[in-house]
Amino acid sequence: MSLREESSTAHAPAKTVLRAAAISGSLRRASANTGLIRAAAEICRESIPGLQIDHVDISDLPLLNTDLEAAGGAFPPAVEAFRDKVRGADCFLFASPEYNYSISGPLKNALDWASRPPNRWGDRAAAILSASGGSGGDRSQYHIRQVGVALGIHFVIKPEVFTKAHQLPSKFDNDGNLVDPETREQVRKLLLALQAFALKLQGKSADSE
Ligand code: FNR
Repeated sequence: MSLREESSTAHAPAKTVLRAAAISGSLRRASANTGLIRAAAEICRESIPGLQIDHVDISDLPLLNTDLEAAGGAFPPAVEAFRDKVRGADCFLFASPEYNYSISGPLKNALDWASRPPNRWGDRAAAILSASGGSGGDRSQYHIRQVGVALGIHFVIKPEVFTKAHQLPSKFDNDGNLVDPETREQVRKLLLALQAFALKLQGKSADSE
């Protein structure tokens, strides 16, 4: 695990800063889900110093094809780089639209690439956000949880944050930035739950931080 310790003084113990690899399931320029990740990063910078959000772009991953794996277990460079980022993360944040009642294709592709042996996802905490059509993305979130069972990911159970991206008044501006304070507060609560759960899995508690 790549826990970072902030510099400590004689008076203050070192604080753990958890690094969350954040993956958007939408590749659109003005994606609301990528906007949720930007909002999450801002929230952490402003008020959750023990959690850092690192957006991991998955747009350059090829479609999964095991013929692209060389003998000896080498992957294409973009896949290797992605797998390294997954392995190096302390926890995960997924923000994804629902596509036809399920996981978006780009996110499933990314989950599959980093699952190839040796699986890079296992034994860490994850939280899920979704900005989607009428449902807010509930069915896609439950499918992500199901896939996570195969990958050994431990999901935050509550709060659940389902964001209706197209409901008026719009919660996002034309560039996909989150502008709704209520959703922002829901995201903040989910991030706090992710931090607490990730620390718990590592045998620490947020109180002792
Ligand atoms: C969708 N959308 C959608 N929404 C939903 O709530 N349930 C669904 O089953 C689907 N299915 C679906 C399929 C496909 C192929 C597309 C392109 C879209 C709507 C979609 O989730 C919504 O527009 C999101 O806001 C898109 O997310 P980004 O790109 O803004 O992050």
